[in-house]
Amino acid sequence: MNMEQLILSLPKAELHLHIEGTFEPELMFIIAKRNNIKLKYKSVEELKKAYKFNNLQDFLDIYYEGCNALLHEQDFYDLTYAYFTKAYEQNIVHAEIMFAPQTHTNRGVSFETVIAGIYRAQADANKNYNISSKLIISFLRHLDEEAAFEVFEQAKPFRGLIDAIGLDSSELNHPPAKFKHIFREARKNGFFITAHAGEEGPPEYIWEAINILKADRIDHGNRCLENEELVKYLADNQIPLTICPLSNLKLKVVDDLKKHPLKEMLDKGLFININSDDPAYFGGYLNKNYIELQKHLNLTESEIIILAKNSIKASMLTEDEKNFHLSNF
Ligand code: ADE
Ligand code: ZN
Repeated sequence: MNMEQLILSLPKAELHLHIEGTFEPELMFIIAKRNNIKLKYKSVEELKKAYKFNNLQDFLDIYYEGCNALLHEQDFYDLTYAYFTKAYEQNIVHAEIMFAPQTHTNRGVSFETVIAGIYRAQADANKNYNISSKLIISFLRHLDEEAAFEVFEQAKPFRGLIDAIGLDSSELNHPPAKFKHIFREARKNGFFITAHAGEEGPPEYIWEAINILKADRIDHGNRCLENEELVKYLADNQIPLTICPLSNLKLKVVDDLKKHPLKEMLDKGLFININSDDPAYFGGYLNKNYIELQKHLNLTESEIIILAKNSIKASMLTEDEKNFHLSNF
């Protein structure tokens, strides 16, 4: 079996995926047309040409623009189900999906419209593809904590559909500590906690995500490598880091996949796994992330297997569910 076949054949979980970041240009144009929404770009080709980013903010500007096409429950269903179809083709057996309600509620789309479409797609994917999934609400960190409290209130009637609370968007100048109170509330309500930290922000933001937000899992976390004590803490406590190689390349967190720190992270005993982040924007879904990194870092078969197993182990699944998937390796 060659490496590509191995990567395809392994059962995998995806733990860092923004559903809005799976919005493929073709689907964006179809949905915009049926909703009578004029996009900033005239064609799929023109839009794709704009996908050149110098940093996280460059990307976020285009990504939020694309979200404007999404208005109705069916739009959120189509977006989410399209992702699950790709996930099925890649042998993803479990997905933990983030969505950012504020991106939609701030445009006048109700929380219920968004979550109803996503949930219906989750249920259909479970039935048709046997893919299990969890849902993560991600607060936008460029907005204030008061706005996060408003979303939290809107989410209350849907508590049973939501598994975790996360934090994303522009990292620099928006430290995790800014959201101290709302994450305390989220924890009190029994949510699993994730937070983007150390993608562009300094190691201090990772410490804050752990010590102040009490994050169960860190999204990205690349910059932990600048702080030895932090690396030791993350490794000793086996705190999962969701690594997104093609995202790191496209947002210039690394300038070449050959210099990606994943191998160094593995060697230091960090509990890492591979994810696609915003695959419609970064040039590939989950398997492409594994394949490109394998090629550029010369990862061995056993390292690939460790990464895939880690994706299952770092998920929110129960121990029994994890053991079931791990028994298929
Ligand atoms: N929103 C979508 N993708 C993101 C990323 N990689 N970092 C921060 N916010 C995001
Ligand atoms: Zn992300």
